[in-house]
Amino acid sequence: MKVAKKITTVRKAVDSAKRRGQRVGFVPTMGYLHEGHLSLIRQARKYNDFVVVSIFVNPIQFGPREDYRRYPRDLRRDLKLCKEAGVDLVFAPSVEEMYPQPFLTYVEVKELDKHLCGASRPGHFRGVCTVVAKLFNIVMPDVAYFGQKDVQQARIIEQMVADLNFPIRIRIMPIVREPDGLAMSSRNVYLSEEERRKAPIIYQSLLKGKRELLAGRQVGRVLKELARDVEMAGGKVDYVELVRWEDMAPVRKLAPGERYVLAMAVWFGRARLIDNVVFRAGERG
Ligand code: PAJ
Repeated sequence: MKVAKKITTVRKAVDSAKRRGQRVGFVPTMGYLHEGHLSLIRQARKYNDFVVVSIFVNPIQFGPREDYRRYPRDLRRDLKLCKEAGVDLVFAPSVEEMYPQPFLTYVEVKELDKHLCGASRPGHFRGVCTVVAKLFNIVMPDVAYFGQKDVQQARIIEQMVADLNFPIRIRIMPIVREPDGLAMSSRNVYLSEEERRKAPIIYQSLLKGKRELLAGRQVGRVLKELARDVEMAGGKVDYVELVRWEDMAPVRKLAPGERYVLAMAVWFGRARLIDNVVFRAGERG
């Protein structure tokens, strides 16, 4: 496994893989890898000849009061996990390598960032799109893998790729969970023992919400009830929302056949956790 800190090294390695006729799969991450990341890497390994993983905590997607500085990092461990998973190339650049000064160009996908995390984290998706567009231009993969865990991010990247004609296929993979249902996240390390015990309420209430929505209960009531369940367990709700997959806009009524996302963001102590369930109206609960 090769580890590259420089963009030129990545370009050379991918170029020679492509000249060998290899198909290139890419998994962008911010590191501190867990089973969620590894599921994307395994999928990439299975369907591609040459697998690239990037590890870069992207400063421009964090707000001024967010956790950029304390975001967990452990490159040595990440490299070991990548090696074991059969990754061919890890790209782990410095901030200076990615953002030499001056840096003046940003990528913004309109509309899809108006709600959910886009509403509570202004500028976040602009930072995500900008770094992902850069990474796509550096790695030039055939296929890139994203997790449904960050569903709005995945939808926005899908749109960016379509709008800007990146010749890259986007694959969105299911959420990997702990045995008790908590969605895996690098940020779960922020949880105290007690918060960790309570956090599975997020997924439990999402499942309950999905069931009740499919049973025809009023959307507003269901959302209120979910927020209350989570608050009773000690979480502080940032948002609980039902949005259409297509435009990530809130809805108050289900239309048959349409695809929806029931999503929430909840603070447990200093950890902001997100999770969601995706379903089609009319399917069985
Ligand atoms: P990061 O949070 O490290 O996540 C990297 C990828 O792993 C994302 O596509 C995310 O959705 C996926 N992922 C995280 N937890 C998961 C889980 N429990 N199950 C399945 N997939 C999971 O998302 C980012 O980094 C950044 O925003 C990035 C795209 C790298 C741009 O900086």
